[in-house]
Amino acid sequence: MRSLEERIKVGDLDLIIRQEFEKRGINPKNSKFKFHYGIWSNEKNVMIIEDGHYVYDGFDNKPPVPTYNTSSLYNPDNSVPVFHNAKVPPGELRVYFPNRTNIILSSLWKNATGTALFAAIILSCFAYTLTVIFRQKKLSEMKTDFINNMTHEFKTPIATISLASDSIVSPMILSNPEKVQRFANIIKQENKRMNSQVEKVLQMALLDKRDFSLKLTELNLHEIIQAAVENISLRVEKRDGVVKTILNASRPSIEGDLTHVANVINNLLDNADKYSPDKPEITVITRNISNGVEVTVQDNGIGISKEARKQIFDKFYRVPTGNLHDVKGFGLGLSYVKAMMTAHKGSVEVKSEPGKGSSFVLTFPFQVEA
Ligand SMILES: Nc1ncnc2c1ncn2[C@@H]1O[C@H](COP(=O)(O)OP(=O)(O)OP(=O)(O)O)[C@@H](O)[C@H]1O
Ligand SMILES: [Mg+2]
Repeated sequence: MRSLEERIKVGDLDLIIRQEFEKRGINPKNSKFKFHYGIWSNEKNVMIIEDGHYVYDGFDNKPPVPTYNTSSLYNPDNSVPVFHNAKVPPGELRVYFPNRTNIILSSLWKNATGTALFAAIILSCFAYTLTVIFRQKKLSEMKTDFINNMTHEFKTPIATISLASDSIVSPMILSNPEKVQRFANIIKQENKRMNSQVEKVLQMALLDKRDFSLKLTELNLHEIIQAAVENISLRVEKRDGVVKTILNASRPSIEGDLTHVANVINNLLDNADKYSPDKPEITVITRNISNGVEVTVQDNGIGISKEARKQIFDKFYRVPTGNLHDVKGFGLGLSYVKAMMTAHKGSVEVKSEPGKGSSFVLTFPFQVEA
């Protein structure tokens, strides 16, 4: 029987192995793909062929003289018997892949990154959906509150007007011009109140659509403040409060829209009064800053917690009032202020501590257009 090394031609072996790799979709010429192979002789207990070289000259039974040794083939990744039809296979073909772990890891790595990326995308979609749902839920709650509030706000003047008009038409009153005058005044007052409320809601809707335009003119902030203060003073003084002004700005004129700027100041004064349950002490301070005027509206009211401070400029947001249920509002005032200050290229900030009062700081640039 011919010996193993006689039966195997190294050139053919190399070719067959490479062909087998190709059949399995592996390109043996790929520089990343490294492999060694060899033939182990069971009879001599040595490798006789390694990587296309005879490494053992077995013809004359000399001791093995390895000329080429990858040694790792003694510990192969795969081995199959050669000439396995024989009763006792004379040897085995051994294959060793030195960077097998790397190759497996790198192919796994691609899969793992893909999976992780996919999971991350799914998770972030889920998180996004959750936040949207929660935001919508909060918004819908606020809108319900708003509608309740609005109904309430409208019901009072409607009831008053209805009562007053009923009274006017009663013959007893009709004959008394003074009383008619009084009831007519009440109707007018209530009508004005409703009108201003509708105006507020409409203004907000307008802001939402962003199709409002500012009628910019030169404004004297001190004049606007004085008019607004005069307006609110009556209400505040009725409750034994005071409204003070410290108008320090030497250059109080700015570019702005008169109606909107006046509304902004009125809104802040209105809040300062509404949210000061005891005798209100309201101070309006102005000063010049580098490129404009800063207006501070300060009160000694209930103050605003840190949590609420983050949300008071959101539309419809009202601090859960607790025992202050009689204070009415739509939760629109400050969102309007914020929108207007942005439109005027200015800003609004709040400093407040619960129980210690609040300060709203407005900054108006001299020029709206740069
Ligand atoms: N000066 C203040 N002191 C304490 N809390 C305030 C003050 N100003 C605003 N807040 C709180 O911020 C919330 C939002 O104010 P905002 O002016 O937007 O709405 P409102 O006063 O409730 O209603 P609206 O102004 O639309 O009639 C108020 O409900 C109130 O809880
Ligand atoms: Mg308000």
